[in-house]
Amino acid sequence: MKNLIDKAIQTHNLSKKELTEILKEDSINEYLFSAANEVREKFVGNEVHLRALIEFSNICKRNCFYCGLRAENKNCERYRLSKAEIINFSQHAVDLGYKTIVMQSGEDDYFKTDYLAEIIQEVKKTDVALTLSIGERTFEEYKTLKAVGADRFLLRIETTDEELYRKMHPKMSLEKRKQCLYNLKKLGFETGSGCLVGLPGQTLDSLADDILFFKELDADMIGIGPLIVHKDTPLKGNENGSFTLALKVMALTRLLLPDINIPATTAMETLNPNGRIIALQSGANVVMPNVTQGDYRQKYEIYPGKICVNDTPDKCRGCIGEKILSIGRTIGQNYGFRPKNRKEIK
Ligand code: 5AD
Ligand code: SF4
Ligand code: FES
Repeated sequence: MKNLIDKAIQTHNLSKKELTEILKEDSINEYLFSAANEVREKFVGNEVHLRALIEFSNICKRNCFYCGLRAENKNCERYRLSKAEIINFSQHAVDLGYKTIVMQSGEDDYFKTDYLAEIIQEVKKTDVALTLSIGERTFEEYKTLKAVGADRFLLRIETTDEELYRKMHPKMSLEKRKQCLYNLKKLGFETGSGCLVGLPGQTLDSLADDILFFKELDADMIGIGPLIVHKDTPLKGNENGSFTLALKVMALTRLLLPDINIPATTAMETLNPNGRIIALQSGANVVMPNVTQGDYRQKYEIYPGKICVNDTPDKCRGCIGEKILSIGRTIGQNYGFRPKNRKEIK
């Protein structure tokens, strides 16, 4: 088994069968994590890139079975930030030194493309890269958003298992989701994806397929998080995903896609109080601290127990900065593009 991992360090390739074998075997976990840590250091160095997350609307027309923001959840108190609030939160993030703003929301049609375009243009007047995480839109809409200055886009595939995808996502299709990702790549967005680990009925085989899909897509960023069960969703009563298994999927993704950006996800920290630091030492090189202000944070309850819901942007920036330095890593001073896409903006 260690031979397989050694091979992956050299070739950045593993077959589905090999991936599944590694996922199944827990005796090699530490070896896997340190291999991913080595590959991370060799290809993307010791910098940790910070991305400032603004959760600008928790209104969503979809009904993903796992998510607290799903349209049918009547216990979720909905909000939408105004244009002025978004710009203000973004400016504050810039003042804190962030070089990337991530604008994330549910699939909220109130934010039509032209309106989003106005906001993007304002945010881009400051010296930042801009990432959108707003779900599925048409090719033309993505094209407009790119043209007005959005640099990156996050759209997790969630699972590549067709049957599971159908069960978890009413009225959605895996094929459309993949098409969105290929459209984003074609338009020149740095394209991020990722998956959930621990969906009911998900197999190790299907997680291996997810990793191979990331490679096939040549994703620029991959975010992986364990499922955290939300009681106001159809997954109520199920078990949470495993922190360790999510970490393994993440580490294997680093071995196969050595130069991409990989966040230490908030969901990992929710299941393990030291989760993000452990992730940063097992292949991750990005953290996405929350810069949403006021009581909007609590209301963006994708899953329960989300960290930092009572904290401020300043508190989180200080907290994560210290943690990163305490493990001998540095904080990225630039936009943090994938090395092969590196560019000057503005
Ligand atoms: N637990 C963990 N992650 C979740 N997401 C949605 N609901 C949950 C949950 N219950 C993730 C999805 C989505 C991202 C924004 O949050 O993967 O893409
Ligand atoms: Fe909406 Fe995204 Fe939640 Fe699905 S995962 S319900 S699209 S916010
Ligand atoms: Fe928010 Fe630590 S990152 S308090």
